[in-house]
Amino acid sequence: MTTFVLFGGTGDLAKRKLIPALYSAFVNGRLDQHFQFIGAAREALSNDEYRQRVSDSVAHYASKVTGGSPEKLAAFLELTQYAKIDARVPEDFEKLKGSLRTSDTNATLFYLATGPDIFIPVVEQLSKHGLVEGNARVVVEKPLGRDAQSAKEINQSLRNYLNENQIYRIDHYLGKEMVQNLLALRFANSFLEPLWNRKWIQDVQISISEQVGVESRGDFYDHTGALRDMVQNHLLQLVSIVAMEPPVNANPDAIRDEKVKVLRALHKFTPDEVSKKTVRGQYRAGAVDGQPVIAYQAEPGVPPASRTETFVAIRAEIDNWRWAGVPFYLRTGKRMASRCAEITINFKPIPYSIFGKNQGPLRSNRLVISLQPEESVQLYMKAKEPGEGIRLSDVALNLDFAEASNSRRVESYERLLLDAMHGDLTLFVRDDELSAAWAWIDPIMLAWQNDSEGLKSYIAGSWGPAAASYLLAQHGAAWGEEYVEG
Ligand code: BG6
Repeated sequence: MTTFVLFGGTGDLAKRKLIPALYSAFVNGRLDQHFQFIGAAREALSNDEYRQRVSDSVAHYASKVTGGSPEKLAAFLELTQYAKIDARVPEDFEKLKGSLRTSDTNATLFYLATGPDIFIPVVEQLSKHGLVEGNARVVVEKPLGRDAQSAKEINQSLRNYLNENQIYRIDHYLGKEMVQNLLALRFANSFLEPLWNRKWIQDVQISISEQVGVESRGDFYDHTGALRDMVQNHLLQLVSIVAMEPPVNANPDAIRDEKVKVLRALHKFTPDEVSKKTVRGQYRAGAVDGQPVIAYQAEPGVPPASRTETFVAIRAEIDNWRWAGVPFYLRTGKRMASRCAEITINFKPIPYSIFGKNQGPLRSNRLVISLQPEESVQLYMKAKEPGEGIRLSDVALNLDFAEASNSRRVESYERLLLDAMHGDLTLFVRDDELSAAWAWIDPIMLAWQNDSEGLKSYIAGSWGPAAASYLLAQHGAAWGEEYVEG
């Protein structure tokens, strides 16, 4: 039996992601019979009013869930309740305690989908009311801190009330199917491992481009920026999985032990390196998919003279034996030309071509792991075009087994919620990973603060500032979309 208490139960994340994820788990029979869902927030709402919101969220964001139906929704709403809770009012927690179905076998999951300033007051109250003992777990949403110091303080405070194995720091990118497939690809096959190092790999590119702007989160985003919103967490988590050594087994800590070593080995930039190896940008007005869109500085909640970055590109390096000298090009941005999250492993070129000069420039072999919009793994190789003479072209070996499998596709939040309910920490971030990630980000943030000239602008609907292309071009490399096939 599981009780799921969602703080921030009326917020944007709850509406768009968490309620749809719970509903999908419910209709697919993944929640036990006695499952209890309590949405908690400061607003005064009746149970019925909250159920109406849950129902609206399902209608908007979960209408395509396989197996969903009005009957299933009605059954889900039966399990749903609302609790008005103010983090500073102890009596509210007393009432919450009264509505929880507790038993020895009960696992209670508290999900803090709120701002980080509320985390500690909520956990403190939960602890004072004896609610985080036994099988209780707490999921905390990013951003966890603004820099290494504040993250450390939050972690220390959480640890005053909870054991590390009760803390589930969520990074929803780790719940994406392809991220886990990457672990399978790397550690369940023999042919990639001998190639997975500085001897055979030219560079690694990890790019997450979005078409959306800051939506209704202008104020939050302006205090955060792309480096904290996307690089510190999602991009560095992907780097750690691509670059990690084989773990001793697939247990959560064995995997996280290897990931944290990568994060610690990331080469920390001096201020001079920050100016040479990072590019930051902010979007101007433009058009995305043919539709005009406003500039970042004109977005609601954003100050007109804001200097916050909505785009980041970085040439990162990992100082260890496997990766020394291999650039990891990281890029993310809002209002870009297309929505795409992709990891590209570019292998080194052949040492010499026997096929003569008529072939044009040969792009070397590459492995492309697409997380979205479609999930796929493709290995690009050269082959001869059919017909007279030898003309080479790229052929993609599609390594994706998704088509061959009838398994249900599980969205990342659903997977992670279920993992947390089952006590599986593998896809959650440990405190030392978080500290190591911030320790790499801090010098970049600091150098940017002292360099007011460094923010470039880019037109909404483009691939970011030209400087991001130059970052690679000066080393003879290019982003995936910039290649012109020979
Ligand atoms: C969130 C960021 O963590 O990830 C958002 O706060 C961003 O700004 C989102 O839009 C992207 O997630 P996805 O899964 O849509 O790529």
